[in-house]
Amino acid sequence: MTEQKYAIGMIGLGVMGRNLMLNMADHGVSVNGYDTNLSKVQELGHLMAEGQLIHATQDLKEFVHDLSTPRAIILLVPAGHVVDDVIHGLIPYLETGDLIIDMGNSLFKDTDLRAKSLASKGFLYMGVGVSGGEDGARRGPSLMPGGPLEAYERMKTTFEAVAAHVDGNPCVTYLGPGSAGHYVKMVHNGIEYGLMALIAETYDLMKRGLNLSDDELSTIYGEWNDGELNSFLIEITSRIFCQMDNLSGKRLIDLILDEAKQKGTGMWTSQDAMDSQVPVPVIDAAVAMRNLSVYRNERQTISQIFKVQTLPLEGDRKEILAQLKEALYASMIITYAQGMALLHTASKGYGYHLNLEDVARIWRGGCIIRAAVLEDIQAAFHAYPDLPNLLIDRNLSQIILARQGDLRAVVNLAVNLGLPTPCLMASLAYFDAYRSAWLPANLIQAQRDDFGAHTYEREDAKGVFHTHWE
Ligand code: 6PG
Repeated sequence: MTEQKYAIGMIGLGVMGRNLMLNMADHGVSVNGYDTNLSKVQELGHLMAEGQLIHATQDLKEFVHDLSTPRAIILLVPAGHVVDDVIHGLIPYLETGDLIIDMGNSLFKDTDLRAKSLASKGFLYMGVGVSGGEDGARRGPSLMPGGPLEAYERMKTTFEAVAAHVDGNPCVTYLGPGSAGHYVKMVHNGIEYGLMALIAETYDLMKRGLNLSDDELSTIYGEWNDGELNSFLIEITSRIFCQMDNLSGKRLIDLILDEAKQKGTGMWTSQDAMDSQVPVPVIDAAVAMRNLSVYRNERQTISQIFKVQTLPLEGDRKEILAQLKEALYASMIITYAQGMALLHTASKGYGYHLNLEDVARIWRGGCIIRAAVLEDIQAAFHAYPDLPNLLIDRNLSQIILARQGDLRAVVNLAVNLGLPTPCLMASLAYFDAYRSAWLPANLIQAQRDDFGAHTYEREDAKGVFHTHWE
């Protein structure tokens, strides 16, 4: 045990934990790290030797003892039972008023349960979403903190120091009580799934539809990134097509298996959107496509049976590329709109009192879904803080209106080519349904009443009706 007391404790010295420690130390915050894995502790060895701000140990008792009180201990460990195991191990060493901060991608419902249980023991608990991957953790992530306000006040200076900054403002703010932070991070990831899938669909259309090379793809995404599509995901996409494989000397992208993995946050977004009765079909389709991608063997077999009957590519390539760009921009906005609509409803349902302008603001830097369009999204919520859907915003609705023809053209192209674009299609279908003053749901009501006497309401009279259907 040392005489020095560290301001923050970090449990989990994987790349995220380690990078966040280094980021904190850069800003003058002393951090004591703990991991059961000796090699991870040793990796911090030379840094320990260099200065006083970083220390790491494998001894939990010593780790807790060396923290200044009341303690603030960050967990950066895999979501799920590991979080509970770590908390369980920590509790005997803690004192009333100590704060535990889960910075992993935990399911928000778990965060609520943990917060409740720890509060009953006199501890504070925060669920903080962290976005930006390894680089973000090191250089400045977007932080999405939720939990007791007094806990946030304790951490505010540190959070603001380590977070990414846009126009001089830190990409962090207090989001709300309980699991507000983890909920916002979950929806962030749902949007991330949607945007990634949309970009992948444009890639497919350009690769298999237009036969473009990796160099051409890189150039196109690079050009798109220079305009209104400017975003982290488009930027990395452009770079990805240039990456060479060290082993084969070929482009790495063409050697990567077409099976997408997932840790579940996109699925949780879809699941909770269903529970909250908020339609997020782009995110649903993105999750479904990750799932479908895994059926590789079946796809390969069935591809021999259902040979795609593609129509010949018609139209000017330049024009098609221009349409793709506009269609992608419109469908990306529609994806943000779905995620934000979910946050709007969930905020009321779960009592988070989210400020969606703040959410858009803290997503402008550091995180995976950072994009130029978030400035327009922020402005939309600034004008109407209780905006239920971004498609109602004057500016954004004009952007979509001007591009709906391109989105239709791209979806038509995909249909004719026999290429799967479920997320682009879901964007268009959502737009067409949401802007529809009338929907055929009257028939659904009639059917329900016919087979199950579930009743219906009428256009021309108030009340609830049942008919004995002939
Ligand atoms: C982020 C990412 C990050 C991580 C996801 C990957 O915001 O930095 O979302 O949290 O990359 O967990 O999620 P999947 O494994 O589900 O794709």
